[in-house]
Order: sequence, then structure tokens, then C-alpha cells
Amino acid sequence: MRLERTLDALAAAALQEALGLDEAPPALIRKTQDPKFGDFQVNGVMALAKRQKANPRELAAPVAERLAALPAIAKAEVAGPGFVNLTLDPAWLGTRLSEDAGDGRLGVDPVETSETIVVDFSSPNIAKQMHVGHLRSTILGQALVQLLRCIGHRVIGDNHLGDWGTQFGLLIVGLRTFGDEAALEADAIVELERVYKAASARAKEDEAFAAEARAELAKLQQGDPDNRATWERMVATTRETLDTIYARLGTTFDEWLGESAYDAMLPGVVGELEAKGIAREDEGALCVFLNELDPAAIDGALPDAIPKKLKKNGTPFIVRKSDGAFLYSTTDIATILHRRDVFDADRSVYVVGAPQGLHFRQLFATVRLLGVDMALEHVAFGQILDAETGKILRTRGGTTVTLRSLLDEAEERAREKIEEQRAEGRLRIADADMDEAVATIGIGAVKYVDLQQNRLTDYRFDFDKMVSFSGNAGPYLQYQYARIRSIFRKGEVDWETPAGAIVPEEPSELTLAKTLLRFGDVVHEAAETYQPHLLCGHLYDVAQAFSRFYTACPVLDAAGLDAEGATRTSRLALTQLSGRQLEEGLALLGIGVLARM
Ligand code: ARG
Repeated sequence: MRLERTLDALAAAALQEALGLDEAPPALIRKTQDPKFGDFQVNGVMALAKRQKANPRELAAPVAERLAALPAIAKAEVAGPGFVNLTLDPAWLGTRLSEDAGDGRLGVDPVETSETIVVDFSSPNIAKQMHVGHLRSTILGQALVQLLRCIGHRVIGDNHLGDWGTQFGLLIVGLRTFGDEAALEADAIVELERVYKAASARAKEDEAFAAEARAELAKLQQGDPDNRATWERMVATTRETLDTIYARLGTTFDEWLGESAYDAMLPGVVGELEAKGIAREDEGALCVFLNELDPAAIDGALPDAIPKKLKKNGTPFIVRKSDGAFLYSTTDIATILHRRDVFDADRSVYVVGAPQGLHFRQLFATVRLLGVDMALEHVAFGQILDAETGKILRTRGGTTVTLRSLLDEAEERAREKIEEQRAEGRLRIADADMDEAVATIGIGAVKYVDLQQNRLTDYRFDFDKMVSFSGNAGPYLQYQYARIRSIFRKGEVDWETPAGAIVPEEPSELTLAKTLLRFGDVVHEAAETYQPHLLCGHLYDVAQAFSRFYTACPVLDAAGLDAEGATRTSRLALTQLSGRQLEEGLALLGIGVLARM
């Protein structure tokens, strides 16, 4: 269930009835900071009192009375300047939780209006290794696809590969000039990167070389069969490398529509921009100057197409270079039209680093001028910093860290840590299961460390904290999950069958129950605000609340506590729901679990 939403509706109805209003006012429900004051607080009375110039505490009294009479509420008290503190009723809590437990969706009910949403994520560039910047996009994007899908949207995950553009002219000439066939066979991406570096350095000094590269690019774009074959080979070999990384990360896409997929649309897009007066020529290039345009004068433009910030920003959005070449920006406009017309998308979400903020603001404004009213969101994120220096993560040699080496190191650290814990008898993983455990724990740890941050902040990449089996880290949550599974094994209780009715009584049971009941709210909020870290926070709360409960309350040994065994059943059900939320929650984040650790 959606706990907060349900309480909000109950409180709004109580406000309306108690005060004899025509409409239900906003109840403004908040979680209380301190459980001493109950579980939730209704703040709506104060806002109303202010408007009616009434005494808020007097208005609050009949509201509290009505709320107290509801089955969901054990206690409702007027407090402070006029808010109402609510304590949930344990029996009501238990019934709602039992419903969540018996439901395949774990209480995450679907949105009322399901949208078609394209999530554009990962999107690395051909002939270049993925670096850690693409890691965040890949991890965040995958989590967002799953979260949005989980709340009932139709989601299309799209890998908008950088597979078109000026670099290919340089690569074609470069391969011919400096290419080493054996090296290309052995490790294509490393060789392509080397060739690209050499070619771009040469082009800077040698105008004839640069001109040749431009000519080869033009030939490629006009469909020259030789250049096309070379390009196809570069795309295919890069994809092999990408596929191994995606397999390690467990990332999948519904579409792989790279920049090249839109090539045929580009002249038409630019033609329309010109015809409608949205783009004009400047020093030979075709540009959109958003600071000059008035949407009212453009046929079909949305009235609020240009946000204030851009009205003052004179940076042109270039859609065709003076040499006639189209750009990243042109492709992105075509991509939006394709998503609207072919996918019938209601929303397009871009999981791309914060430095591309201006590009997306300009892009969104430009398509609004073309009349596109699809929701468009740049889900930006910060950078990964070195734990020691606090600067952008680099290798000792000063080059950018590749994703491959980062994943290798994460697995290596996970292996060391697991070996250490095994030696101390804290983990029991059989030799035969080690490789699977290392991959699940190591890759899970990388993902968790990335997702647990508010995505907009830069963060320091700390391998030691990352592979920790205590505190807020992936391995800790996986460990708690395995511990729950071992309770079921030990008691010979079937993990797949719902354990039974939940009747929370002890304080630690109540705390755990209230935490678990927030799952639906958290998943919805994390999805709709594109903040997977909210789900990480919840899972950590669950693990901690479970741990306290398990320390305070015997589960398997609770048999003797009552004649019918209801206490044992209830505790088993709480344990099981904790485990299932950990498993399902981690799965939404793209992180696996192990039944034994
Ligand atoms: N290939 C780009 C890069 O590596 C990211 C593309 C993001 N998606 C988009 N539709 N612009 O920076």
C-alpha cells in the first residue's frame, strides 16, 4: 500500500468533516522526526486556521477526535501550535502488512496513469572505452528503468550510442595510416583508441591530413561502401567490448538506437528549423539563438518554450556546421521526434552527467519551438572522485580510469574481503561458490555505492567502505538477506509460501512493521523523482530494523509463547517480508543476492 497517501486521504477527510468544509483541504502529512511524538503529524490544520483567522489548537481538537476513532489510528493528539500527532494502530498495521506480503507486488500498487517512458542511458561512444562517467549513467539508468517499470509505466531503455560524427573521418584515415591489423584483432578497442589519438594529434598539425579525414567522413555519410564497411567493423568490435561489460553489470536495453540511426532524418529536421524561422545562419553555420526568438511568432511553438535562463543566454545551439556536417544536437532533435512518432512516448528521460546541462536545456527549448509537448527530463549526476585526492578519479599514470579496470579492482577487493571474513568464520561460502559470490558481492558493491549517493553530488570512491559487511554498504544488505534465508533453512520453513498473519506487538516488531509498510511510498518516490538513493536508504532502514528485532525477539524459538503459535507465525512473516523487500529492492537497483553467505 501507499502508506503516506492513505493516511493523507484519511486525515483530509477528517479535516473536512470536523470543520464542515465543502472540500477536503490538504492534510500535509509528515513523518515525525522522533517516535516519541507518534508516527505521523498532520500539519494542515495550522494552514487552515491561519486563513480562517481561528485558533489552530481549537480547530485541531475535533480533527484529532475523528482521527482517533479510525481503525488505522491508535492515538491522535493535538500538539505544539496546532498539529495532530498520529500513532498507528498495531492491528491495522499488521493487517496491511499481511496484505502486502501476500501480494506479488509487495504492496507497490501501479500508478493511475501509465505512461510510455524512454530512458536514454549508458550511451557510450564507439571506438572508445567506457570510462567511469558512463558507469554512473549505466547504473542509475538501469535502476530507473526498473523503478519506473515497477510502478506501472511502459519503459523503453535505449542505448543512444555515440556511433556517428567527425571522429569517424579521423578513424578511417587513422586506421589506414597508423592501424595495426594484429592489434585490432587482439583488442579492438585499445587499438581504436590509440589510432584515434594519433590521428587527432596529426590532424592538428597537418592540414592535408585533416582535409582527408573530412573527405572520408563525407564519403561515409554519403554511403561509400568501403568506408561503410570500416565503420561497421568499428561498431561491431566496440559492441563486443561493451557487451562483456554489460554482461558483468547485468545491464540490458530494449533498444540500441545510436546516433547513426537518425542520419536520414537530419536534413529534414534542419529544413524545418530553417523554414519555421527557428534557426538562422551565423558565420556559415546554422544556429538556434534562443535569446532572440519569440515563441508567439513561430507556428506551432509551445508558448512557454523558452525558459527564462535561456532568454538571456546567447550561446548558439548549432544544428549544422559551416562545412555542412550535422552535430550531436541535430541528432538529438531527430531522436525526440522519433520517440514521439514511433514509440508514442509521453516522456523522455536522459541519464547524462551534469556538464551536459546546457545542451539539454537548449535541446528541450528547441523541440518545444517545434511543438513537441512530451515531458523531457535531464536526470543529471555528479562526478566520481578519488578517495584520497578528492579530484576526478584517474589512474596512477594520470589517464581516466576505464570501467573494466574499475570492475576488476572491485571484484579483487571483494574477494580479499570475503576470504578474510571466511577465515574469521563470519562467512560460510563454499570454494565452489566463490566465483559467483565474488561477482555478486563485488559488482553489487560498486552499484550500491553509486546509487546510495544523492545523484547530484560528487562522491569519493572508497573501495574499502564499498566492500564492507557492516554499515550502509551493498555487502551488508546482501549479508542480512542471507541471514534471513538461513533462519528459514534452520527452522525448515518454506521460503516461498507466505508465513501467515502479522501481529506486531513488541516495540522492535512495531518499528520493523512501520518501516516495512513504507516500501510502496519509497518505490514510487524514488521512481518519480529519479532518486534511487531513497530506496537504498529504505533498505538500510529495513536491515537495521530487522537486526534490532531479531536481537530482541526470538523467532524460531517463539513457539512456546502462545498456544496457537501465532507469535512464531507473525515473527516468521515479518522476517520473510524483510527478506523479500531486501531481495526485491536490491533487484530494482540491479543488485543480486545470495541465498547463502
Ligand atoms: N554519447 C554521449 C556521451 O558519451 C552521451 C549521449 C547521451 N544521450 C543523448 N541522447 N544525448 O557523452
